[in-house]
Amino acid sequence: MRVIIADSPEAVARMGAEQCIRLLQDKPAAVLGLATGSTPIALYAHLIQRRQQGEVSFRQVRTFNLDEYIGIAPQHPQSYRSFMQKQLFDHIDILPENTHIPSGMGDPMAESRAYEDKIHSAGGIDLQILGLGRNGHIGFNEPTSSLSSRTRAKTLTQETIRDNSRFFSADEEQPHLAITMGIGTILDARKVMLLAAGAAKADAVKAMVEGPISAMHPASALQMHPSTLVIVDTEAASKLELIDYYRWVQSETLRVQGAYL
Ligand code: GLP
Repeated sequence: MRVIIADSPEAVARMGAEQCIRLLQDKPAAVLGLATGSTPIALYAHLIQRRQQGEVSFRQVRTFNLDEYIGIAPQHPQSYRSFMQKQLFDHIDILPENTHIPSGMGDPMAESRAYEDKIHSAGGIDLQILGLGRNGHIGFNEPTSSLSSRTRAKTLTQETIRDNSRFFSADEEQPHLAITMGIGTILDARKVMLLAAGAAKADAVKAMVEGPISAMHPASALQMHPSTLVIVDTEAASKLELIDYYRWVQSETLRVQGAYL
């Protein structure tokens, strides 16, 4: 795991976007794994801007989102499909048929199997972007998820439901179930990049990077991935025991490579 500590949430987003853009410049037909939540919004804004400046194209890119709520239609304003259209897809030159999000309607078991097959047929995910739940979830893999799980339906914890209630108005029914890539699915990506910002994520970041690998903290499974980049702001990094070491590695990397990433 490489830990990059950025000065601000904005710098987290900028560095994350830079990674995506480098990948797309090297491999224009890359397969991206995408995430929802508030953290990647600023990263997507950077991608949109860089597209508008003609620095990157998504014409050949295929995307697979991590998860979707069960029981709400894609057109629902709180669906992750609506989120992705609004925050990214509607503003870039990606082909709609190349954007994949699990369907929250229909039979979740059949949908899960079909989603795994689609990822496999696309040749696997080159770069999986992740946010981090306060309880350590990635995608919607809540604590005690199998570390080798595949795409399937999950029941959300009360904590996650509360954390995400800010996106739903009082009269809207909030789903308690979701379909999510499994931890095993995520670990199959060739590269993983997790972004986290803010003091509320500090405990989860500490457990992910320095805690034991445990199903109680799903993100800790990333310690087993050979190429995971964790980009955090100073607040999210504040509880890391080896923070001075990560900063030292960062400055050495800059000295040797001329860039952090
Ligand atoms: C949701 C998503 C996760 C995301 C998490 C954190 O639960 N399913 O993929 O990482 O929220 O969201 P935020 O970035 O808003 O803190």
